[in-house]
Order: sequence, then structure tokens, then C-alpha cells
Amino acid sequence: MIEPGKYLNPEGKVHWKSPANIALIKYWGKYPEQLPMNPSLSFVLSNSVVSIKVEYVIDDSKPLNILDFKLNGRDNPGFAEKINNYLVRLSEYFSFLKHAQLHISSESTFPHSAGIASSAAAFSALALCVCSMDEKIYEKRWNADDFFNKASYMARLGSGSACRSLFDGMVVWGFTKFLPGTSDEFAVKLSDDRVHESFRDMQDTILIASSETKKVSSSAGHELMHKHPHRENRKEQALDNLNKITRALKDGNWKMTGEIIENEALSLHGLMMSSNPGYILMRPNTITMLEKIRSFRQDTRLNVYFTLDAGPNIHLIYPFKERKDVRNFVTSDLAPLCENHKWIDDEMGKGPVNLLEDDQ
Ligand code: DP6
Repeated sequence: MIEPGKYLNPEGKVHWKSPANIALIKYWGKYPEQLPMNPSLSFVLSNSVVSIKVEYVIDDSKPLNILDFKLNGRDNPGFAEKINNYLVRLSEYFSFLKHAQLHISSESTFPHSAGIASSAAAFSALALCVCSMDEKIYEKRWNADDFFNKASYMARLGSGSACRSLFDGMVVWGFTKFLPGTSDEFAVKLSDDRVHESFRDMQDTILIASSETKKVSSSAGHELMHKHPHRENRKEQALDNLNKITRALKDGNWKMTGEIIENEALSLHGLMMSSNPGYILMRPNTITMLEKIRSFRQDTRLNVYFTLDAGPNIHLIYPFKERKDVRNFVTSDLAPLCENHKWIDDEMGKGPVNLLEDDQ
């Protein structure tokens, strides 16, 4: 039954679009409640996005129920279950969720089975939807900073890296005394005066080395960091790299930034290989491409660097002004090494968008 007055607006609709992000300093290893072992830094992408629409009725006589869930127009029971578990988790913070009757539809621009994780985009979009529901149901209005910080906190509970998808520009998640305002609980934008303009139009070409589902998930990888022999060194390395990269970003130093992001990517994979049990997510063509990228850089002196997530695919990072040369190189030298010649062009984006006109 809907108790009159308890919920000012017990029925409604929310709709958010939110991007994936690419980490330059990697989050690897966590404590309970998705608190990171070390601070990380990333930027959001422009084209790799998920939009989620939630139509809801809050009825105290009924338990939480996802009445239907569609991903790109199709049922997806596996993902629906993940979302249900996540909403149960969020109901500790938003009691109305305990009685929410929901129709959820989700659209993703991630190419089907490209082997690129969409969880950061999906959980950040969902966190935004729940925070918007809270505002509408109780007719309250957070100021924008508080709203996005809260959404970042909630997104973190779904997937750690998702908390970095809420802001444009460079984003830091994890406390460090060197950057005021940073927190383990939510991400913050690195203020624009700390980022040289040459880093404001970063490109990310994603080279698909393999789209197979990886053998070891990121969650299992984080878990292996608990007893990792290099755990303490990794914490120090990440802090040191974060310190150095923040200086390089401010100074407009692409060379130093690039060297740090490649060091982070290779260290991440080194940590996986030296875990117990150790595992390898790079494929032979990943390594061939990494070598080609380094030779191309040496020959051309262009600012083109790579990073890798916990998978075999490569993110090629470079400034907009080098786009033409890098894309020619991708087409001629790297595409033949990609699965089905597949790569995706993306670039730094502007963060989430509220797709409901009346909220803009
Ligand atoms: C290698 O955020 O996917 O991409 O918190 O368990 O959901 P969970 O892990 P997830 O880990 C991402 C790890 C990474 C590095 C990064 O994005 O910082």
C-alpha cells in the first residue's frame, strides 16, 4: 500500500547516461566495502557510455522487485540479478528501495562482445538514477557537488572504478595527503588548474586484441593482492606514480605522463603474473602491438603511449593534434593484429548526462 504523505512522489521516471573511464594510475587491490588499496587516476570517455532508464512505483506493501529488465531491448537475467543485488545493497542508504517496483531499461554503446568492461558506466548510471529517485520521491534538491559526490560513493559500492565515471577531466579516487579533498569513499575531479591544456583533448583508441571473456575477473585479481608478495611495494609505487603524474599533468609534460602510464600498465600485468596463482591476460598479439607502439614512438617522436586494463586490449593514449598520424599507424600496422581488425576510437568526454529534460 502507498501510505499517503510518506513519499511525496511515489511514482516517476529517471534516466541517466554515464561513461566508462580509463585509468592512468591503476586501482588494484581493495579492502572490504570497495575501499581502494591505493589512489587511482582516470579520465572518462566520450563514446563508451551506458544509459539507464528506471520507471518506479514505491509501494510499502511490496518488497523490492525488478518487474522487467532490458539491455539493448533484450532480457538479460544475469545482469538483472547483479542489479538486484546492488539495489539491495543501496537500500541500506535509500530505504524506499526496499519497496520499489521497477522497470529498468538499459542501452549500451559498447560493441557486443568487444571484451571491454561496461560495469563502470552501468553502475555509475544506476547510482545516478537512484540518487535522482531520492530527490524526486522526497522533493529534495542536492547542490550539484553534493549530488555527484553522493552518486560517486554509491557507484563505488557497485564497482570500484565506477566511482570515477561521475566527473569530467582528470579524476582521482583514493585518499592522498598531497591532493586536498581526496577520499577513499568517492572520487573527486582534479581541478582544471592542475591540468595543462595539452591534456584536455586526450584520445583513446582501443585495440581489441581479444574479445574472449577473461579467465580471471578483476574481482578475483583484487582478491589476490591481499597476500601478494609485492603488495606493500605496489602501494608505494602507486603513490609515487600519482605524485609524479600530477606534476607532469600540471606542467604539460607528455613524455613523463606517458612513461608513468606505461609503467602503471606493465606493473598491473606484472602483479597479475606474480600473484599466487599467477596468470597472464595479455595475448601474443598484445605484446606485438606494444612493441610496435614503442618503435613507432621512437621513430616519429610523437606522444603516443599505451595503457592496459585487466585484459588483453590496448588503450592508445595521445593528444588530438596527433590524431591523423596515429590513426594512419593504427590502420596500417596495428589493425591487422587486432581480432577481426577491430579497434574503437574514443576520446576524453564530459561526464554523465541527465536525459530527462525536466531535470536539466
Ligand atoms: C584494472 O572496478 O572492475 O581496471 O571494484 O571489483 O568492480 P571491482 O573492480 P573494477 O577494477 C578495475 C581495475 C582496473 C584498474 C582501474 O580501472 O583503476
